[in-house]
Amino acid sequence: MDGDTGSGEDFGMDVSQLRQMTPGCLRRIHFNNAGASLPTTQTLTKVVDYLQREAEIGGYEAAREANDEIEATYSSIARLINAAPDEIALMESSTRAWDSIFYSIPFQPGERILTGRSEYASNYIAMLQLQRRCGIDIDVIEDDTNGQIDLDQLSRSMSDDVRLVALTQCPTNNGLINPAVEVGQIVKPYRAWYLLDACQAVGQLKVDVKETGCDFLTATGRKFLRAPRGTGFLYVRRELITQIEPSQMDMRAAFWTAMNEYQIRDDARRFETWETSHALRLGLKSAVDQLLALGVEPVSRRIQQLAERLRLQLQSIEHIRLQDKGIQQSGIVTFSSDRFGTCKLESTLMAAGINISVSPLKMARLDMEPRGLIAVIRASVHIYNTEEEIDQFCQALISI
Ligand SMILES: Cc1ncc(COP(=O)(O)O)c(C=O)c1O
Repeated sequence: MDGDTGSGEDFGMDVSQLRQMTPGCLRRIHFNNAGASLPTTQTLTKVVDYLQREAEIGGYEAAREANDEIEATYSSIARLINAAPDEIALMESSTRAWDSIFYSIPFQPGERILTGRSEYASNYIAMLQLQRRCGIDIDVIEDDTNGQIDLDQLSRSMSDDVRLVALTQCPTNNGLINPAVEVGQIVKPYRAWYLLDACQAVGQLKVDVKETGCDFLTATGRKFLRAPRGTGFLYVRRELITQIEPSQMDMRAAFWTAMNEYQIRDDARRFETWETSHALRLGLKSAVDQLLALGVEPVSRRIQQLAERLRLQLQSIEHIRLQDKGIQQSGIVTFSSDRFGTCKLESTLMAAGINISVSPLKMARLDMEPRGLIAVIRASVHIYNTEEEIDQFCQALISI
């Protein structure tokens, strides 16, 4: 499946070289980058070498030896999102990051959460739990006619009883890019905090916490960042760190200062736990550093260009219905078929050596239920994908 990289622009990147550095793309057409993208050999080697070192000299000893590099993970992530290293907590997943800040917010009965139709299942389940437990209200802001969060309705809904605005920037089941910066501008004059789920945005879009104006941001490593599974991070705006006591604490989050005393640390690491995989953190750092070296801008443009080409070709296949919403769209392309169910589409594509994923109703009920969608096919591209692979993908759909 390697070879021709097609006729599209590479935005200064050597796509053949990117593919050589990505062993996974030699075997299959990987259009499941929103599930988990393919790591480079460099990232893989970093993880494996560290595990090897743990086995050779001991886990604690290996951590001490690699301390400076492990520490530098915070700086790499901070650089990527225009934050400071002390505003970053490293996590095992985006959900773990989201939950650790969400469950720490001291909600009072009667306070409101505003969210959008794109909210991810796990986030909304947590909101429902706190609604039952603490008596808070959840208001779901409708989409506008373009399918993104309705900014006018959001403005009208803001008031001082809103404690949190929670937005998913790139939904799990859709190519939509929500206007995260505009939401930040609306929230700013109020006492509400702004929690941005950038899980599927980081790595494929420029994400700048200052520009966005978010108070908290969560992301995962395995998606567009190309880091190993089991990695993620949380950003907490510095001014808020010491105002928010973590809902759970261990000796990483706080220091046991006297027999019956403890002191919570004053950086974002108060949301972390002590035990973690250092190997995976180094893998995350490696992936982020490679992205920074390539440049977020060209990466973003190449992903967008491939996705546009895919959408264009899918539109010309008679039985295919694109399901993406919004004015701006990401590298995630979703569709259904008038003729075949998602199971048939999935098995056909799998048989053709193409990885995609299915987004079922239960992942994004606020969006899919009103639209009468039970499931959609999600094909998501990355820089190492090629125009030729898109042609093959569409050919597989035409020849069902
Ligand atoms: C929008 C969005 N938020 C959060 C998550 C959860 O990420 P994780 O599995 O790393 O917890 C996902 C995963 O698909 C997602 O699509």
